Amino acid sequence: MSHVYKRSISCHWTFEVEVEGMLWVHRWDRRAFGRRRHKSVEVEDMLWVHRWDGRAFGRRRHKSDVHTAEPLRVCVTGAAGQIAYSLLYQLAKGDVFGQDQPVILILLDIPVMMGALGGVAMELQDCALPLLKETIATDDPKVAFKDIDLAIMVGAMPRREGMLRKDLLKANVKIFEVQGKAIDEVAKKDVRVVVVGNPANTNCLVMSQYAKTIPKENFSCLTRLDQNRAQAQIAARLNVKNTEVRNVIIWGNHSSTQFPDASHAKMTNGDSVTERTVQKRGAAVIAARKFSSAVSAAKAICDHVRDLWNGTKEGEWTSMGVISDGNSYGVPDNVMYSFPVRIKNRKWEFVNGLSVSDFARSKMEATANELVEERDTAFQFLSTE
Ligand SMILES: NC(=O)c1ccc[n+]([C@@H]2O[C@H](COP(=O)([O-])OP(=O)(O)OC[C@H]3O[C@@H](n4cnc5c(N)ncnc54)[C@H](O)[C@@H]3O)[C@@H](O)[C@H]2O)c1
Repeated sequence: MSHVYKRSISCHWTFEVEVEGMLWVHRWDRRAFGRRRHKSVEVEDMLWVHRWDGRAFGRRRHKSDVHTAEPLRVCVTGAAGQIAYSLLYQLAKGDVFGQDQPVILILLDIPVMMGALGGVAMELQDCALPLLKETIATDDPKVAFKDIDLAIMVGAMPRREGMLRKDLLKANVKIFEVQGKAIDEVAKKDVRVVVVGNPANTNCLVMSQYAKTIPKENFSCLTRLDQNRAQAQIAARLNVKNTEVRNVIIWGNHSSTQFPDASHAKMTNGDSVTERTVQKRGAAVIAARKFSSAVSAAKAICDHVRDLWNGTKEGEWTSMGVISDGNSYGVPDNVMYSFPVRIKNRKWEFVNGLSVSDFARSKMEATANELVEERDTAFQFLSTE
């Protein structure tokens, strides 16, 4: 811990103290003495808030309680794609990490997309956002993942017409193998990784397997869009606000075998969710828009990451795909399965002890079986080549 007193020619006294790697600056000003109790000034992009109270008056005249946060290094892959186009702005303007948390955005896409990615970077710059410290666009995973705090893995091979599910799986797990190795080599060891690109659960598992020195618990995949869809549909049915519906669960895979479960949801009455509508909602959006969900996916990613960073609210949980090891619901180990989780200090834990009906159990098993099959197929591709 070090202290430094300084006096400038404009009669500002400052007192700097470094505590656990953070610099706190306290500043006071003779002219303000005894008059204005509260003052804020913007200096070099930072808001310094000065307060003093009666007890400190005359001794410590002025005190600052805002400190500079180190920028978070956040990588978004598939950054030239349509989800990223909605996502990047929300990350950069403070919607997710808060209004006092600067960010450095690192955008990764494939070489052929570098032109378009340059345009995205230009647009981010043109937003003149105070929290966005830097934007880096690259096609090199090792540059993209260098020292990052968070990776949002949106980039994936899209399903083309006539492509079998197996072919899609093969192409994508190879991408996530390469990116898993790269993140292992260059990212911070406490990096958090959120996988969105489909098949999200199995891509996430593959990536975690190849990032051998990063804990598997640091990986999660997105089922929050399904949760949000279920929540919104229940709210519409009951004619209540979206926020009045809580604790809807998505079990299993982000595919049509997923099990949306409203039996533990807190609602004003006991109506149940229309599961099929949630399971087929992605297809309905594609049929209507001719493109897959983008704004709602970006919003769901922000919700997922916000909960991961700030924790879930008291009495609430959220659904995300996480490593199944040690769960109490009979789901086999070593799959990324969507469970209800509580989050604190950037660590999740299973919500245990929820009752499971026979109907629910059969649905949970069906989606688990699909994930096991997907995993085994994926690892055949990876181990044979
Ligand atoms: N989990 C979910 O809830 C959820 C919801 C919606 C969409 N998705 C999935 O998210 C993915 C992205 O969707 P989109 O609509 O943005 O697609 P998109 O095709 O518009 O964008 C994908 C981007 O990824 C890039 N890309 C491909 N391979 C890459 C690689 N190896 N490294 C980096 N970038 C790469 C592409 O060049 C493209 O720019 C898709 O797989 C989609 O199925 C998941």
